[in-house]
Amino acid sequence: MLVRKLLVAGNWKMNGSIQSASSLASGLLSAIRDGIGYDVVVFPPFVHLPMVAHRLQGSHLQWGGQNVSAHSKGAFTSEISAGMLKELGCQWVLAGHSECRHYGQESNELVAKKFAQALGQGLMPVLCVGETYEQRESAETEAIIWSQIDAVLTEVGVAGLGQGVIAYEPVWAIGTGLTATAEQAQEVHQFIRSHLAVKDDIIARRMRLLYGGSCNGSNAEALFSMPDVDGGLIGGASLTVEDFMAVCQKADKLSKGE
Ligand code: 13P
Repeated sequence: MLVRKLLVAGNWKMNGSIQSASSLASGLLSAIRDGIGYDVVVFPPFVHLPMVAHRLQGSHLQWGGQNVSAHSKGAFTSEISAGMLKELGCQWVLAGHSECRHYGQESNELVAKKFAQALGQGLMPVLCVGETYEQRESAETEAIIWSQIDAVLTEVGVAGLGQGVIAYEPVWAIGTGLTATAEQAQEVHQFIRSHLAVKDDIIARRMRLLYGGSCNGSNAEALFSMPDVDGGLIGGASLTVEDFMAVCQKADKLSKGE
């Protein structure tokens, strides 16, 4: 019996059309049966969310937004509030994805405010953290990851952080086909969990830590078998039913203790 339920999340990023998102959502709905022992969440582009929500409503599949504003409402052109996501039935939201940190210049402090907004609406934020290749080469991985987590701890405390999930996504592994080895992922996840345990041992043991970065059906089993890896945040391999199911099948197998 696993202490933490595995979570497989699909980040569709800026891909697809209403038509393709609709068939992907329907395809997953029929491929993933009810009563599974792991959780599945999809993160479609904002404009596809209402349709995906409509398709998945009342099912065992959950959905969320890829980002959220740090503000609750007002003159923030182009932004989407946590309340708006909640209204669409979202239970989840990504916060601080490396692409938003990089292209959108989102700072640790801004990401922490987004995390707090999500919590304020009862959404479960997935805090994405990770180092660049250069940072890993210069042995800064742990310092970078802890600074990303610490900003959220400062904003919402360990109890707040514990209401979300952390996704470790090494920037050098995202969309590159270069996956962290299961051992590399475990090493960072163990670092995160042991540092959280200093703040609160129970929260540290309960909190789900996902791995993301070129995760697919071929490497998911090795990654998810690691003691501190509780599932994956999947990009490229979440865009077809077949590829995503290849990952889900590994989670299914492990959740049954096979
Ligand atoms: P890839 O799986 O395409 O590397 O993307 C990972 C990711 O960024 C998920 O959020």
